[in-house]
Amino acid sequence: VQAFDAWMAALDERHLADLRVQEVTRALRALSVDYVRRRARVREPGSRALEGRGKRAAFALYYAPLHFLVTRQILRAVGAGVARDTIVDLGCGTGAAGAAWALEMEPRAEVVGIDRLGWALEEAGFTYRHFGLRHRVRRGDLSRIEPGARGRATGYVAAFAVNELDAASRDALRNALNEQARAGAAVLVVEPIARAIAPWWRDWATSFGAIGGRADEWRFTLPLPERVRTLARAAGLGEREQKCRSIWVP
Ligand SMILES: C[S@@+](CC[C@H](N)C(=O)[O-])C[C@H]1O[C@@H](n2cnc3c(N)ncnc32)[C@H](O)[C@@H]1O
Repeated sequence: VQAFDAWMAALDERHLADLRVQEVTRALRALSVDYVRRRARVREPGSRALEGRGKRAAFALYYAPLHFLVTRQILRAVGAGVARDTIVDLGCGTGAAGAAWALEMEPRAEVVGIDRLGWALEEAGFTYRHFGLRHRVRRGDLSRIEPGARGRATGYVAAFAVNELDAASRDALRNALNEQARAGAAVLVVEPIARAIAPWWRDWATSFGAIGGRADEWRFTLPLPERVRTLARAAGLGEREQKCRSIWVP
């Protein structure tokens, strides 16, 4: 709890140093519209969804902490506390999901954050460092993940990232993760469920189900940090329940 609260304080300091809360609120509204209603826009090559300081601050201060908390909650619910050497954080953004997983085990895993955005890699480095995690960050495309350390020692997490891929990239990633899971790696995929069920979700659930994975839908009522609550209220976003779904291969 302390490390998480300290992270929130550090994020405030980092992102509100020269932005006003109103600017971040406005950007959060725009970002949530991008994510919820104009999903296609996020998929455009060179997507502008996370462009601009305001939107990046909004992502870092609102979405990232939520993603940290729901990822941790899912991992606890499925019983994922087994120690691993490496957690690969696919589409790491600010590193929330990879950090949440690496912190669930003792000794802590090393985290490898992969994203196509330089900004994200910088922020992910900040997050992993903040939590005292050994880490590396690498610019890369999720449609071409190179299998690193294979087998039981590795966990792959793709949180709120698969939805941003086009169909061909998504299939390539599904196949690569499936291969890793067959070699013994753990795989966790997290997505929101507020949107219409994506056709690809069922396909992924079947594909990973065939090798011992489970697909779940979750509704969590989590105590949220003050900054997340105030931003949600100001931007008119629902904050009571966190709904998401996951695929987990142990
Ligand atoms: C909504 S954010 C989620 C970030 C983080 N996983 C989390 O849970 O907070 C999606 C991330 O995926 C990254 N991304 C999207 N498409 C990608 C691709 N083809 N290759 C690598 N990263 C990608 C974006 O740059 C963005 O940082």
